[in-house]
Amino acid sequence: MCVTQQVPDGSTAIEVVGLTKRYDKVDAISDISFQIKAGEIFGLLGPNGAGKTTTTRILITILKPTSGTAKIHGHDIVDDPTTVRQMIGYVPQERAIDRFLTGREHLLLLSSLYHLPKHDTDRRIDEILKLVNLEEQADHPARNYSGGMKRKLDIACGLIPNPKVLFLDEPTLGLDVESRFRIWEHVRDLKKRGITVVMTTNYLDEADQLCDRIAVMDGGRIRVIGAPAELKANLGGALISVTIGEHERSLDELTTALKALPDVRKVNANGTCLQIFIETPERALSPVLQSVMTVGHRVESIDYHRPCLDDVFVAHTGHRMHSDTAHENE
Ligand SMILES: Nc1ncnc2c1ncn2[C@@H]1O[C@H](COP(=O)(O)OP(=O)(O)OP(=O)(O)O)[C@@H](O)[C@H]1O
Ligand SMILES: [Mg+2]
Repeated sequence: MCVTQQVPDGSTAIEVVGLTKRYDKVDAISDISFQIKAGEIFGLLGPNGAGKTTTTRILITILKPTSGTAKIHGHDIVDDPTTVRQMIGYVPQERAIDRFLTGREHLLLLSSLYHLPKHDTDRRIDEILKLVNLEEQADHPARNYSGGMKRKLDIACGLIPNPKVLFLDEPTLGLDVESRFRIWEHVRDLKKRGITVVMTTNYLDEADQLCDRIAVMDGGRIRVIGAPAELKANLGGALISVTIGEHERSLDELTTALKALPDVRKVNANGTCLQIFIETPERALSPVLQSVMTVGHRVESIDYHRPCLDDVFVAHTGHRMHSDTAHENE
């Protein structure tokens, strides 16, 4: 398993070593290590219960780790939480918006909670409202906001303390496609301003298109870390996914036959589905199909594609991230 732990270039914003959080006898996260470079968009990608929020809550100092260490710009989250808090902003997974306050009032309230200098507050709030494109709705009560507008207000709230590092927990969960794209644009703007963004996501396409690097999480562990393009490229040339009928006999015979083919690199069998990693599609396709036919399984579907992030997830965890996820080919 390849778990990259070194930041490629540039200064390190976050360094996590062997982080574990145990509840009773269960580890919510287990021995997690990674580094995040200053100015990058780093994604924690994983299904429900993978440990993304737990990791985030430890890094923002509201949850103590059972063991392991984490530093933000060199400051330890346990020994020096006050300094850490001065450097970060946090947008929680659960929204914390008061429906009766306007967008601007939310930001004013937070500014006074953070003791921001009064002479600077109005200018700063205007700037943030502009950044997330909420200027027109700024003086309307939040109850009139759409889901996407509420999420933008959440992000605006996270920006009030002028953070070096912004943590976004599931920034686009439940939003429609257009609102998600707009949030992605705002996150890219934050990166352009030099803010390091650490975000969690359940969405493969979000991790793929928005994040510079991702840590694939499952069952409280990091399975692999890298740039999405690099992780996909590491899987090799192309993939053939074959799904056979539910009541077919064991896949062992077919798996053995496929593994013996010269252009097949690897075969993952998972329930009624086979993932066949091939090196040279033009040479491998025909013998693979031939083997499937010869062994005599009833084939429900055959799909041929370049590796996508879903394939990366399967290759490193042994199962699909979402059982109903369609392939996200580019
Ligand atoms: N306070 C707690 N007590 C006991 N177990 C917990 C607690 N908080 C989290 N867990 C468990 O730790 C695991 C990781 O939870 P976490 O919320 O970090 O996952 P997640 O990746 O953020 O999931 P989601 O995508 O649903 O937000 C889960 O199995 C969860 O049930
Ligand atoms: Mg979560």
